Amino acid sequence: MNFEKTTLRIEDTLLAILSERKKNGTFRFLRIQKEGMVDFISNDYLGLAKVSEISESLHSFVDNGASGSRLLSGNKVYHESLEKYLADYFKAESTLLFNSGYLANLGLLSSVPQKGDTILFDELSHMCIKEGVRLSRANYFNFKHNSLENLEQKLTKATGNIFVVVESVYSMDGDQAPLKQIVELCEKYSANLIVDEAHTTGLFGDSGFGLCCDLGLEDRIFARTYTFGKAIGAHGAAVAGSEILKDYLINYSRHFIYTTALNYHSVQLIENAINYRKAHPELVEKLTRNILLFRQLIRRDIPKLESFHPIQGIMVNGNEEAIKLADHLNAAGFDMRPIVSPTVPVNQERIRICLHAFNSTMEISNLCDAINEYYTQ
Ligand SMILES: Cc1ncc(COP(=O)(O)O)c(C=O)c1O
Repeated sequence: MNFEKTTLRIEDTLLAILSERKKNGTFRFLRIQKEGMVDFISNDYLGLAKVSEISESLHSFVDNGASGSRLLSGNKVYHESLEKYLADYFKAESTLLFNSGYLANLGLLSSVPQKGDTILFDELSHMCIKEGVRLSRANYFNFKHNSLENLEQKLTKATGNIFVVVESVYSMDGDQAPLKQIVELCEKYSANLIVDEAHTTGLFGDSGFGLCCDLGLEDRIFARTYTFGKAIGAHGAAVAGSEILKDYLINYSRHFIYTTALNYHSVQLIENAINYRKAHPELVEKLTRNILLFRQLIRRDIPKLESFHPIQGIMVNGNEEAIKLADHLNAAGFDMRPIVSPTVPVNQERIRICLHAFNSTMEISNLCDAINEYYTQ
């Protein structure tokens, strides 16, 4: 009886909170992509998630689950072998696997900075960076997006060991961090730089080793997070850095220690997908052509993101307008979502468009026609 009462009360509270979301048009719900919709939404930029050759060989080895955390029964030859492979690929002394990019950032940021230290992070950082920072015992402050001036102001006031956290490409705006200048600022103030390479892993650099390696900055960066759920078309993540950092994370990173390790299929898939990516540079060339085509075909006066990354966006005013444009494009057969506040700041609502190597010229041209038409109505 009591149980029923409690359940009802909390559910009423939850319902009231949810109805607020419904009222202001920000209610989230799960849906499955409709058959026949053109994919302008997934992070599978190169289409690797659908390449059968990458996963074909995995079924001959039975190891459905790793059976424990890495510190108990779950540490296998295949984890250690992938970590060595990734260290070589990302030009690092060592790498440590995490079950996702979200967990990698939580695990790194919550454990490494100590009480009395300072973390400075870009205001447009992904939620897992903000949450990782909040879980740490250090002091933390954000700085204005990509502003070297604002970062330097905050660096002058920082205490203890200093950590600066940026993304090489930002997930909502598709723009790059001025990495070289940030590295120089960090060196000036003896700050430790952490770079999240989620949206450059597999894309940037000849072999897809990300922006830090492409710019030759890898040895000047304290830690780098690479994720495999986007251009690599798989799942999981790795933190690259020194052997000491790896030992520290194995000892103190709760998001590494207290969770079942990735299984064989997930681990081997990452290596197979990277090998496939290395052997197929033409996918990146095709993607680059698609990005240029999209930017050429969208009418100049339509407000859009200044991005040369597959993440593109049409800027609108307010949640209602974002939802209206997304509905219009969905009805025309293009799968994409509105990005509304509070996910992005008020007045920066947008339609986020992810371009892919597999999108045809016709698909991109039809999409641009549909957007251009919407603005002539
Ligand atoms: C910048 C950034 N970091 C980390 C993540 C999380 O990665 P994962 O999807 O592997 O958890 C994302 C995912 O969207 C991201 O955009």
